[in-house]
Amino acid sequence: MEVKEAILNRKSIRKYLPNSIEKDTLQRLLETTRRSPTWKNAQGYKIAVVQDKTKENITRDFLTAIESGLAENPDYPYQDFYPNYIKKRMLELGAAYFGHMQVDRKDKEKRKELMLENFKFFGAPVGIFFLMEKGMNYWSTLDLGILIGTFLIAARDEGLETIAQASLAAFPDIVRKNLGLEDKWTVAVGVSLGYGDLEDNTNKFLSPRTESSEIVHFFD
Ligand SMILES: Cc1cc2nc3c(=O)[nH]c(=O)nc-3n(C[C@H](O)[C@H](O)[C@H](O)COP(=O)(O)O)c2cc1C
Repeated sequence: MEVKEAILNRKSIRKYLPNSIEKDTLQRLLETTRRSPTWKNAQGYKIAVVQDKTKENITRDFLTAIESGLAENPDYPYQDFYPNYIKKRMLELGAAYFGHMQVDRKDKEKRKELMLENFKFFGAPVGIFFLMEKGMNYWSTLDLGILIGTFLIAARDEGLETIAQASLAAFPDIVRKNLGLEDKWTVAVGVSLGYGDLEDNTNKFLSPRTESSEIVHFFD
């Protein structure tokens, strides 16, 4: 697949087929992803691939935590500050998505149902947790962001679909417990990976992008 095609036809997929991913395909995808650049070749991250029983146990623990009212406790606090023009884009995305799904914004029940799908990896056979050691800062996060971006695009080349999910990093203690990780490993973000159920309405949603002139500026 052309790189441009892979970039342009990637989008967040929120419903997957139950089909498993072949071991060779998964391995190839991870090896391609690992060519991603890092500051001074630090490669200061880990990629935890969860499947089968481990993934099921994590989902079970996530859902139990949510049902018991446990507060989200991400290793990296959610961002409070967004300038108003950015907040507007975020609100517009929510309105467009719920509109597409024909869910009334006031329908808390239905919104919760959709939200919970995050913690079930949207039905994908594979979950990926991107981990970083505690104490690493902006530059390592940048490296990790490039890695995740590479992963999302490389997945398309294997015919796979993805979605990056902050929600999968909302209860990092659950991830650490299930993976037997030391406390020093922080959960930066999660990604669901699999074959998309492209006929499902949720996957027919295409998020907009703002005007190019708001983002790209030429200085001749
Ligand atoms: C770091 C990051 C975290 C995200 N977290 C979530 C999430 O928890 N749940 C979700 O449904 N989408 C999540 N998304 C998906 C974004 O909403 C999506 O990328 C954005 O709306 C653009 O749409 P597209 O990916 O289809 O192009 C996340 C994306 C990124 C990059």
